[in-house]
Amino acid sequence: MPYPTKNKGFNEGNFMRKIYFATGNLNKVKELNIILSDINNISIEQINLPYPEIQGTLEEVSVFGAKYVHKKINEPVIVEDSGFFVETLKGFPGTYSRYVQETIGNKGILKLLEGKGGNHRGAYFKSVIGYCDENGVKLFKGVVNGRVSHDIRSKGHGFAYDSIFIPEGEEKTFAEMDIKEKSKISHRKRALDNFKEFLKTI
Ligand code: IMP
Repeated sequence: MPYPTKNKGFNEGNFMRKIYFATGNLNKVKELNIILSDINNISIEQINLPYPEIQGTLEEVSVFGAKYVHKKINEPVIVEDSGFFVETLKGFPGTYSRYVQETIGNKGILKLLEGKGGNHRGAYFKSVIGYCDENGVKLFKGVVNGRVSHDIRSKGHGFAYDSIFIPEGEEKTFAEMDIKEKSKISHRKRALDNFKEFLKTI
């Protein structure tokens, strides 16, 4: 990973703006590249610079992470914290999504919902993007509502909870959609659309 070099000012002539995306999750990087592929004059570069994941809401984690990485590299940076929330489980796994995926996994979530019908399987993904530059941090959020499927269903796409989540108005799980299809409606797409609007203003 080349060490970041200093950019020219954001609005100077035709210079590319560079924004670092601090994450070790390559699935997120792929999705972000697709969702932001239509913007000009901005290049997003992944930087694998881990930041402490404080215990807190997605918003708190994103604010902390974005400030932390910005302080280290002194360049515009985004981080993303996301989670999967099952309504009948009072939002579980929510901010514990990563840990729960690595422990009980999708099978464990389906087990917790055993015997629950369609009306009790509501769930949503939420993404919170934290952007930090010399002016401080801004947050951009996106949510996609849907429901938990009865089985694990995948065509080999996606990651983590994608194979048990059916977005509203769809029959397929995210893992049965290719990355472009998922990226038209995902929580990440919705958060990044808000971020794109902000980019037009700076
Ligand atoms: P984090 O933002 O990397 O802390 O992500 C939290 C966890 O939420 C991830 O490890 C995944 O388990 C889950 N997650 C976040 N976004 C997605 C998604 O788009 N699909 C499936 N699982 C996701």
